[in-house]
This record gives sequence, C-alpha cells and structure tokens, in this order.
Amino acid sequence: MPNVLGIDTSCDDTGVGICSGGLVRANVVLSQTALHTGFGGVVPEAASREHLDVIDAVVERALETAGLQLRDIDAVAATRGPGLVGALLVGLSYAKALAWGLEVPFVPIHHLEGHLAAAAAANGGREGGRETAGQGGQGAAAEPPFLALIASGGHTALFKVSGWDDIEELGHTLDDAAGEAFDKVARMIGLGYPGGAALAKLAESGDDTALDLPWPLQGKGGLDFSFSGLKTAVAQLVARDPGRPAADIAASFERVAIGSLVEVTLRAARLTGLNRLVVAGGVAANRRLRDALDSSGLETHFPPAELATDNGAMIALAAELKLARRDLIAAALETDAAPYLPLARAPGPG
Ligand code: KG4
Ligand code: ZN
Repeated sequence: MPNVLGIDTSCDDTGVGICSGGLVRANVVLSQTALHTGFGGVVPEAASREHLDVIDAVVERALETAGLQLRDIDAVAATRGPGLVGALLVGLSYAKALAWGLEVPFVPIHHLEGHLAAAAAANGGREGGRETAGQGGQGAAAEPPFLALIASGGHTALFKVSGWDDIEELGHTLDDAAGEAFDKVARMIGLGYPGGAALAKLAESGDDTALDLPWPLQGKGGLDFSFSGLKTAVAQLVARDPGRPAADIAASFERVAIGSLVEVTLRAARLTGLNRLVVAGGVAANRRLRDALDSSGLETHFPPAELATDNGAMIALAAELKLARRDLIAAALETDAAPYLPLARAPGPG
C-alpha cells in the first residue's frame, strides 16, 4: 500500500500524518496553544513563524512513529485552504518541495475535506482494529451518501456528501463558528483560551435553565447557524449580574448552542432524507452533542478526538481518497494557498 504523508498548517497547530490504505500510521500534532494563549486568540504572524520553525521536526517525528524513511513516501498532501494564508503557505510550500524532491505526486487538499475523510474513515475500524466507532455506526465505515456536520473553532457548516467528489454545502454559520462561541463565552467566565472543553466540563455541574437565552435564528427554519447573538446575550447577562455561578452560565449557554446545532442538523436530515451523519471538528468532542445526536435515531459517526481536531493524518486520508479515485492533475504543484475556499465549489483535487 502506498504511504501518503499529509500536512495541515491551516491555523495554529502543525500537523503531520502518514496513512496507508486508510490506516493511520502516524499522526503528530505540535500544538501552538501555549504560544497564543496569552493573547486570547491566534496571532497569525506568530503562527506562521512557529510552523516554519517546527515543521521539519514534526515531519521527522511522524516518519519515526510510522517506522518509515522519506524514500518510503509515495505521495505528499497538504491543506491548501481555507485558513490563515501565512500559516497555509508554510505547509503547502513545504509539501510541494518535498513531493518535487522525492519525485512523487503532490495532492492539494481542502481542509474541510480532510475533516470529512477523517470522520468517515476512522469509523471503519480501519485504525489497526481499534474500536473507533460512535454509538450508531459501530464497525462500519461511513461511505457516502451521508450528512456531515463540521463544527470547529473556525468553521460550522453542514454538507451533503453524495460521493467523495460530489459534496454540497447545505448551510453554514452566518457569524461565529460554534467553537469560537464556546471559546468566547469560556473567556467571559475566566476559563482561558481555548476554553470550549473546560466550559463543557464546568457545564456538567450547572443548571442549564438558569439563564433565559435567545434561541439562534428562531423560527427561520433554514439550514444556517448563528452564535453571535447568543454570545452577546451571555455577555450582557454576565455584565448585569456578575455574581451568577459560572457553571450555570456554562450550562445554559451549552444547552442553547448545542441545542441549535442539533436542531439544524436534524432538520437537514429530514430535508435530505439522509440518516447517516458524520460529525467532525473540535466541537464533535462535546458530550451533550454526541448524546443528543446518538439518541436521535440517525446512524452517527464521530472520529476519535485526535482525528476530530486539526491534524495531518486527515489530510493524508483525504489524499488517499483522491489518489484512489483518479489521476492527479499535472498542475497540482502550481496550486496556491487559498484563505477563503468554499468546499462545494472545489470539485477538482483540492
Ligand atoms: O477542530 P479544531 O481543533 O480546530 C480549530 O478550529 O482550531 O476545534 C477546536 C475548537 C475550539 O474552539 C474548542 O474550544 C472546541 O473546538 N472544543 C469544544 C470541546 N472541545 C473542543 N467545544 C465544545 N465542547 C467541547 N467538549
Ligand atoms: Zn479544522
């Protein structure tokens, strides 16, 4: 089986993974969280410089983990977008140079396609026999057609995946991403950055009906999301009544934010008639989201945490699907980084 090396430097983590026949042989992610945490968010210029400093070492670590040498790599893939342009350029340029030097194909990948490939592949028990399935999708790979919810710090969108080269966006967030809203509310209640996971933990001990919060896009009935009104309502309530227990704020916010994600996702399932659902992105780790979707009657597929958040293995997995499907366009090495790149309008490789 060919070994595919994938690189993701779309935001603040340097991810390098190696996959072979749908198996993840290495998945090394060097997190930059500590670098950005004092700023309360990602500093793009600092992120690019850090990627540049560490990418060689992360590639080496991935090769070591997989027990491979550079000459064993049969294709190199990298995220071409969307993301921070400076950060994207580091991984993309590195991957192109590596592919050119090794005389192997270069495969440009859309970041969200990577998330989808990881969420779908990880459920097939293809990770060395390790159990990775969500409640509903045990043991079975998520083959298209399926509905996909991607909810991370940078994206929140729903896709209809009819085939790996037939992906249609059904809706997206009109303002903040779900993870971004979690992070902002977490900061309001002193949980640091990125605080989504800490907020979810705190919410377990809170009263989720303590705050009267507005439901996003209530009555609109579409397939888009919105989290900024909710976030602002929390900020106003916190300013008005600073004595409220943080756990109640966390639980109330989580009830509405996750409730809205679930509501729109189930609406999409009804409208499309699809009953298989793949969930990707950092927010896929949220217990409340998992429980609600698992008990909804849909066949759910959640990737394990290390494949749900940004990583390089997901880029290699997406590249494998492309390599298996068709010949690569000869001009792949000329692919530019694309900070804004809609998935549904990118049918070619990348
Ligand atoms: O996919 P991801 O690693 O990529 C980025 O967009 O960077 O997602 C990270 C996001 C952060 O916003 C984080 O706060 C959120 O996922 N997150 C969570 C949970 N764990 C991580 N949000 C809600 N509940 C969680 N348990
Ligand atoms: Zn991502």
